[in-house]
Amino acid sequence: MPEPLRGLVPQLAAGELPWPLTVWGSAGTGKTCFGLTLVDYCGGFFWSTDDFCEVMADAKMGRLTTPGAQREISATELWQELACTSLVVLDELGTTKEISDHHYRSVKRLLDLRENLPMVVMMNVPLYQIAVSYGEPVASRLAGGTVCKLEGQDRRLSDDARSSQPEARENQAHPRPGTPGAFSNQAGTGPVVPG
Ligand SMILES: Nc1ncnc2c1ncn2[C@@H]1O[C@H](COP(=O)(O)OP(=O)(O)OP(=O)(O)O)[C@@H](O)[C@H]1O
Ligand SMILES: [Mg+2]
Repeated sequence: MPEPLRGLVPQLAAGELPWPLTVWGSAGTGKTCFGLTLVDYCGGFFWSTDDFCEVMADAKMGRLTTPGAQREISATELWQELACTSLVVLDELGTTKEISDHHYRSVKRLLDLRENLPMVVMMNVPLYQIAVSYGEPVASRLAGGTVCKLEGQDRRLSDDARSSQPEARENQAHPRPGTPGAFSNQAGTGPVVPG
């Protein structure tokens, strides 16, 4: 688990920091892997934001069933399950080009349902862009929790490619205190802003 998330998770679990946890950072910094690791450990649900909205739409239209299609799962039942599950992780918020009314209402309702309950939201963009795309009510609900910027280079790249990224060259030329070295595999730590 990348720092600073390793330090934050126990504080969130102990009620010392407020939910939801919003993790934002550029591509390849390990957000999705972090979310999947948490759900593996705690149970609960993991969805990309678009998939979540599609599942909700299916439930509303009577198209969502249990595995093996033994019976239908209604939207009411799904919301009830989401209210009492151990954790909900919503990945890739802010990637949807055109946010429909259904999409907006589903995301906002989920945030309200999980108020003060374990929930993690992950995105590539900072909160002010969520305020632009989803509106202030959604951004405000995220800002009221714990917001963490995940820094570091794209872990998908080879060491050679990473060292030629602009950020790596900058670090080599002007190392900043507390910044991982240009060839380090460690994610840097960013500001944590409890709401
Ligand atoms: N803690 C880690 N240590 C080593 N490798 C990692 C770690 N976390 C993620 N990776 C690897 O880095 C790559 C990118 O991880 P991941 O998909 O989680 O990034 P992401 O931040 O979700 O990217 P994107 O914003 O593009 O969705 C994957 O190949 C993954 O296996
Ligand atoms: Mg991802």
